[in-house]
Amino acid sequence: MKISAVIFDLDGVIVSTDEYHYQAWKQISDQENIYFDREINEKLRGVSRMESLDIILSHSDKAYSEKEKLLLAQRKNEIYCELLNKLSPNDILPGVINLLIGLKGRDIKIAIGSSSRNTPFILDQIGLAANFDAIADGNSIKKSKPDPEVFLLAAKMLGLEPEECAVIEDAQAGIDAAKAAGMKAVGIGSAANCLNADMKFQDLTNLDINQLLEVNQIRS
Ligand code: BG6
Ligand code: MG
Repeated sequence: MKISAVIFDLDGVIVSTDEYHYQAWKQISDQENIYFDREINEKLRGVSRMESLDIILSHSDKAYSEKEKLLLAQRKNEIYCELLNKLSPNDILPGVINLLIGLKGRDIKIAIGSSSRNTPFILDQIGLAANFDAIADGNSIKKSKPDPEVFLLAAKMLGLEPEECAVIEDAQAGIDAAKAAGMKAVGIGSAANCLNADMKFQDLTNLDINQLLEVNQIRS
């Protein structure tokens, strides 16, 4: 089946919010005296806010109640949103705009498939809110990546079959979600090493649109 849509992950693919996530979680873990470093931060890529917190708390001996966990997640999000105020179109990652223009020019639909509940705010900050044909995000799903829910929802919103969609991701959890959805999975950045990605690029400036839209190289 022909590729008719490209679904973009947001954090780490469209915009580099990774550092802000790191800084916000670092403040929370420091306050709680929990060890947290960039290597642990890598494990939070593509994972929901509460699941990210669980990964961080697994490095603590203290047992946190659900109420305490909700408060920590809320505090982290307040710090993160404060940092997001600094985001601007300058933070759009290299190659994104050219790729979006190239896809639009070929009549390929474009969508967002992100675990983030801050997706509308981030898209607004970088000036791309009105550019996507569908936006599926952490506000509209129950199960976070590696579950395929967010990508299946994006395909449904576009009125397309999963096999007609390609996903661009920077996280192993996202590549797994795309494959579980039955979609073509393109790994960039940290996901350029994912063994189950159908195509891999260091960043979007290296991505060849014609190769992206080619269907006969999909691995199941
Ligand atoms: C993903 C990020 O896009 O969104 C994760 O890669 C993050 O690191 C997740 O935990 C949830 O984000 P938010 O904005 O809802 O806290
Ligand atoms: Mg990501």
